[in-house]
Amino acid sequence: MAHLLVTGGAGFIGSNFVHHVVNTTPHTVTVLDALTYAGNLRSLNGIPADRLTFVQGDISDADLVDSLVACADAVVHYAAESHNDNSLSNPAPFVQTNVVGTFTLLEAVRRHKVRFHHISTDEVYGDLELDDPAKFTEQTPYRPSSPYSSTKASSDLLVHAWVRSFGVEATISNCSNNYGPYQHVEKFIPRQITNLIRGVRPRLYGAGTNVRDWIHAEDHSAAVLRILDAGRIGETYLIGANGEKSNIDVVRLLLQLMGRAEDDFDHVADRPGHDMRYAIDATKLRTELGWEPRFRDLEAGLSDTVDWYRANEEWWAPAKDATEAAYAAKGQ
Ligand code: NAD
Ligand code: DAU
Repeated sequence: MAHLLVTGGAGFIGSNFVHHVVNTTPHTVTVLDALTYAGNLRSLNGIPADRLTFVQGDISDADLVDSLVACADAVVHYAAESHNDNSLSNPAPFVQTNVVGTFTLLEAVRRHKVRFHHISTDEVYGDLELDDPAKFTEQTPYRPSSPYSSTKASSDLLVHAWVRSFGVEATISNCSNNYGPYQHVEKFIPRQITNLIRGVRPRLYGAGTNVRDWIHAEDHSAAVLRILDAGRIGETYLIGANGEKSNIDVVRLLLQLMGRAEDDFDHVADRPGHDMRYAIDATKLRTELGWEPRFRDLEAGLSDTVDWYRANEEWWAPAKDATEAAYAAKGQ
């Protein structure tokens, strides 16, 4: 049994990870989360009090971070500003949280000699052409496009440097696009599902031909736990489940699942600098650590996700109007 400090554990993927840990291991968890607009304490409902301690605070608060890291066996670092669109309108919090916050955690794990796992994104590798057979591997050079992905790339580089220079025991994982329960309504899939629940047409940026490589958040969580248990220190592991699909095909699938005509959507203004395609080659994770995804059928996984948003309107409704007002102001 171990005690994990999970940063960003009230966010989408962090809360899925906390549920996964509590359901599949004897570990106890402390969540450190600032509860920004993206954090939601209700995402942690149902977790027994003897397994979870919640601390509201900022990962850039060095004294608070030091005191929490001192009591942990390992830190799993999810906290971040995570939305590309927001990084285009206001990059400052991305630099503060994703770069300075990660630096603050690294200094604490260095002082206390605590194992660190850094959660990152495939977006650090830039994008691929639609007709390119290549996928991202651990050897792909960094080429981030947006303020968000450049701050995530910066944080990855800090982790590598702290491993090499100070002997910090860290691993990094770079995952593709997640879907599943507890995802904020600003993101593509929950935005379209909740629009459809409210009778509003889905909104596709530009032509909608951009491709994302979808993975269920539960599979991401299992991969992270596996890396924490058996990953080699200093190594990067790419996480993906061969879930490539164009945005327009995802929208058509959602329309079909929700009983609407497949052309019942609108094209809206494109995202500036919009990455065309992401695709992960997860061979290293599969062969070295024996991880395999459980959700292999995107249609079935999306159908479960639609059911979750239908059943949990009180979770997402408070954020919906403000999110849509912000999109409308940008013509999206
Ligand atoms: P999210 O926006 O849903 O959650 C982020 C959480 O971090 C929120 O609870 C927020 O309150 C918290 N937070 C933000 N700033 C903080 C600060 N300064 N101090 C403490 N807490 C703070 O994000 P997500 O989609 O769950 O992403 C989690 C992590 O996974 C991020 O590091 C992201 O880069 C990475 N990632 C996300 C995806 C994806 O598809 N969503 C894919 C690959 C990697
Ligand atoms: O690849 C991993 C990344 O996936 C993570 O690092 C990010 O934190 C996460 O937000 C996600 O980034 P994307 O920018 O790919 O996700 P988003 O949900 O914002 O958009 C997915 C695709 O859908 C993208 O091509 C933009 C498009 N889109 C998005 C919205 C919100 C639309 O067409 N319409 C929309 O309304």
